[in-house]
Amino acid sequence: MMRTTLILCGILFLAPFHVIAQKFDGLAETPPMGWNSWNEFACDVDEDLIKATADAMVESGMKDAGYEYVNIDDCWHGERDENGFIQVDPEKFPSGMKALADYVHSKGLKLGIYSDAGWETCAGYPGSRGYEFQDAQQYAAWGIDYLKYDWCNTEGLAAEGAYMTMRDALAKAGRPILFSMCEWGTDAPWEWAQDVGHAWRISGDIYPCFDCEYRHEGGWSSWGVTKIIDMRADQEIRQYAGPGHWNDYDMMEVGNGMTIGEDRAHFGMWAMLASPLIAGNDLRNMNTQTLDILTNEEVIAVNQDAEGVEAWKYQVYDSTGVWVKPLADGDLAVAFLNRSREDHTINFTWTNHVFNDPHFNYSYNFKNSEYEIKDLWTAKKMGTTSKPMKFTVPGHDLKIYRLSGK
Ligand code: GAL
Repeated sequence: MMRTTLILCGILFLAPFHVIAQKFDGLAETPPMGWNSWNEFACDVDEDLIKATADAMVESGMKDAGYEYVNIDDCWHGERDENGFIQVDPEKFPSGMKALADYVHSKGLKLGIYSDAGWETCAGYPGSRGYEFQDAQQYAAWGIDYLKYDWCNTEGLAAEGAYMTMRDALAKAGRPILFSMCEWGTDAPWEWAQDVGHAWRISGDIYPCFDCEYRHEGGWSSWGVTKIIDMRADQEIRQYAGPGHWNDYDMMEVGNGMTIGEDRAHFGMWAMLASPLIAGNDLRNMNTQTLDILTNEEVIAVNQDAEGVEAWKYQVYDSTGVWVKPLADGDLAVAFLNRSREDHTINFTWTNHVFNDPHFNYSYNFKNSEYEIKDLWTAKKMGTTSKPMKFTVPGHDLKIYRLSGK
């Protein structure tokens, strides 16, 4: 009796201190869409840029197309105050982060911010190590909606624990903040982060080229579009992604110097891969071709499809890979990615093919079922799968079709 009472007292005593934190549900049922400053502006960020970007997101039609988050990457930080609370750089953000969040919210958009699990960010600003709960509290007080959490200067830390600490800190702060993990796939986050973050980067940084590897001094590389697509092929990471927890193939380089075909291939593949669609170009100055790619409604619908399944690579013909993405209501998207510089004409006899998903239970047998085909770049109807389809995929470009059951 005495023992039971003691145990009960112990439980009662401990109970209020034992909080089981969870990430916020419902924030990323489909891949997040927005913009981030890093790819185009690096450390050159300030409140004028962020406000003008929010304006441009609305005026260009990107908001209507589904883009929602305006995200400030590295280099917004000032010092911590005497109580340890992080402050903005007063020169870059003279009105303060709260006022900026209010502005972005007044446009019907959301504001994102960046920090790092280590002692310093990659650019050398204060990291969140040891200040996780205070930082989360500060972000919540400012009205932040999205946190990208990087992995520089984390020597000796374990990724899972470090990211769980920030998840718990965000939960404690109480404001629903989308948690975007950026540890570059180093510790295979797809295997453990489903309940930790809403998305996790799977690669080092993207570079605005189709298939190059850009080597930096210091021995690290940035990666072209196809390099990132291929990076985790052996780990079959698509099986770990789904509503609320996505593989993040990095912020986009559409509009940052590749050819139109390459930009199309990049955007189309990010849609097929159910990656977050975070634009990385200057929204204040983009040409119509860039805008048309970024706001293609039907390609975005492939990315935002409620089924939340990433594409798999079905087959490769010469240099052209065929990718298949199951969609809701029995539809599917099929993309042909031409990696060579030569145009590739294909005569695709659908009825010779059965697409069997290697990880989930999707199966499409074109002998048994007929689908209508739509080209999502041209919006042209291409007939049905009952007949062979002849088409050309230009070099470094991609064709993407939506197939709907008849
Ligand atoms: C990298 C990250 C980039 C960018 C940069 C900022 O680690 O992958 O996307 O955030 O840090 O310094």
